[in-house]
Amino acid sequence: MTAFGQKYEEYRAHFEAYLQSACKAMAFEPSVLTESMRYSLLSGGKRVRPVLFFAALEAFGMPYRGEEGLAFALECIHTYSLIHDDLPAMDDDDMRRGRPSNHKVFGEANAILAGDALLSYAFDLMLREAGRSARHLAAAQTLSKAAGAEGMVAGQSADLLYTGKNGGERELAFIYQNKTGRLMAAPVAMAADLAGKKRGAAEAFGLALGTLFQLTDDILDEVGESGALGKSVGKDAAEDKLTAVKIYGLEGAKTRAEACAEQCLALLRDMGTGHGFLHDLVAHLLKRDR
Ligand code: IPE
Ligand code: IPE
Ligand code: MG
Ligand code: MG
Ligand code: MG
Repeated sequence: MTAFGQKYEEYRAHFEAYLQSACKAMAFEPSVLTESMRYSLLSGGKRVRPVLFFAALEAFGMPYRGEEGLAFALECIHTYSLIHDDLPAMDDDDMRRGRPSNHKVFGEANAILAGDALLSYAFDLMLREAGRSARHLAAAQTLSKAAGAEGMVAGQSADLLYTGKNGGERELAFIYQNKTGRLMAAPVAMAADLAGKKRGAAEAFGLALGTLFQLTDDILDEVGESGALGKSVGKDAAEDKLTAVKIYGLEGAKTRAEACAEQCLALLRDMGTGHGFLHDLVAHLLKRDR
């Protein structure tokens, strides 16, 4: 394994261990609620956002151990967004993280409620963290803004609005920046908050990284392998989603992903931190197959 691969695994395993024990301790009633929340949380995502949060903390010279609460809140919000994204009323996807989607196992109504519960639980976690210091309060505010009507939810709304319709570069940028960018920018900006640094450069880097992540997600929907991805492929074209592949074609989207990765590296330099891992993460996300 490369040094980058080892470090990714260190962050991921640290988060995973925390998540496992936190999920074990969950005992909400009725038990179907706990089961459906656990089912989606523990089904083995890549944990990119918690990894990015831990790496950004270290890049700012801060320890990442001890900051698991905000990482957990972030993954709860991301997981809820996936459960709702897969619902028949949204993308109508039957597979997620290599297993049947939440609503395929627990039914639509329970899947909606599992999402609601994960989102609310994330705010409970954030409030607990916010009590630790003014910097934690700022980080919690950063995450709460990124989740909702000024962030991920706005992006999902625009994604639906432009499904089956023609949109251009501006509309696509709005979708990318919000549905994906904001929840990728949040961990970097939260790390800046905790380090007592200005958030601007961190946020700009995270937004570009989120755009890169969604560009490769859209490319993989076109050319990826369902087994590796753990989700269905070919859905964006079938549903006529507004993606980079639709606007620029597959090769055009790939060229844009490469340009976006270059932009990420330039923005990372502006952050002026120790950033070896984040530098390699950009290349990793450009080349990913899952
Ligand atoms: C999928 O996110 C949704 C997008 C924003 C593209 P991930 O690709 O991070 O999904 P998991 O968490 O690894 O399952
Ligand atoms: C994901 O976009 C956006 C979310 C905020 C969940 P997609 O709809 O392309 O994500 P996948 O491909 O289903 O993971
Ligand atoms: Mg979607
Ligand atoms: Mg989807
Ligand atoms: Mg997709």
